[in-house]
Amino acid sequence: MLFLGIGVVIYGRSGGKKLAERLGVPRPAIIAHRGASYLAPEETAPAYMLASEMGVDYLELDLQRTKDGVLIAVHDDDLRRTTNIAEVFPNREMDTVDKFTFGELQSLDAGSWFNIRFQDRARASFKNVRILRLEDVLEIAEGGFHKPGLYIETKSARRFPGIEKQLVEILTARGWITPHARVSESPPTERARARVIFQSFEPNSLALLKELAPQVPAVLLIDETMMKKDGWYALLTRAEQLGVGIGTWGYQWSQDPGWSIKDAPNRYVTTWPWYTGQAHRTGLLVHPWAIDERWEMWMVSFFGADGIFTNRPELALLFYGRADHIDLKPMWERIGY
Ligand code: G3P
Ligand code: CA
Repeated sequence: MLFLGIGVVIYGRSGGKKLAERLGVPRPAIIAHRGASYLAPEETAPAYMLASEMGVDYLELDLQRTKDGVLIAVHDDDLRRTTNIAEVFPNREMDTVDKFTFGELQSLDAGSWFNIRFQDRARASFKNVRILRLEDVLEIAEGGFHKPGLYIETKSARRFPGIEKQLVEILTARGWITPHARVSESPPTERARARVIFQSFEPNSLALLKELAPQVPAVLLIDETMMKKDGWYALLTRAEQLGVGIGTWGYQWSQDPGWSIKDAPNRYVTTWPWYTGQAHRTGLLVHPWAIDERWEMWMVSFFGADGIFTNRPELALLFYGRADHIDLKPMWERIGY
């Protein structure tokens, strides 16, 4: 039994290597979740520029669409948490993102909330940073030295019919995806040949993306609710039909004061090594989110994860030996924040 257990762990640990190589996805992939979002306001220029400057493999973003059809990077359905919407549009703060034009969104301050909430990390230059369009994020990724790829989530996609087509058209027009090659012929970095990865919690959105751009790796995100509703095997099969990977939710025990050891079997199953091993045997990469503590990085890596979404790429780069030290001061100076 012990040997079987050890075998499972070893297989889980190694099974993703060949998959990642075939797909041109760096392993372990360091995915800056909403940018370097522990150190700067999520999904804004400083968060993405800092992550790019650090040398991450991918910038992660949540794609939504404005009332006038502009694709933007915003996580929440509405703007209350990450902007001063209540001040600027006092009667509309409950409205979802799609009720605003891009021009209206440009009048919002998407940085000051961070300074109020995280005073130890506040910077005067975050005040008045703006919501970004997809094109702005592309520009950030194209600039700088490291040129990371993009890991794009179609967020709440059923609210945005046609967003998949629009996304593929923009990426194609900018040369980010080419009609046939799965991997980029001119890699953005030495590590990443798959320049774009799509991700979604919504199978229908991934199915559309697969139809429009089958050459782009796609990852089905799963959460606790989906696990309870559909079960692991059904999700694995769905992920296999739709793409090349599965985005499991991570441990985050440190962020969950209510956690108890009794919850472990049900709540955090998808990064255990036997699940990772099953995903690998099914031909799927495993990218858990959002892994922010060193010990969590160690654990999911030990269990075979092929990379991590992290709000703390500055820790992940050190943890994976991709940097000897991270000196933030010159980075902030170079990016002008
Ligand atoms: O995209 C991976 C992870 O970000 C999914 O959760 O809610 O942070 O978008 P969320
Ligand atoms: Ca996301």
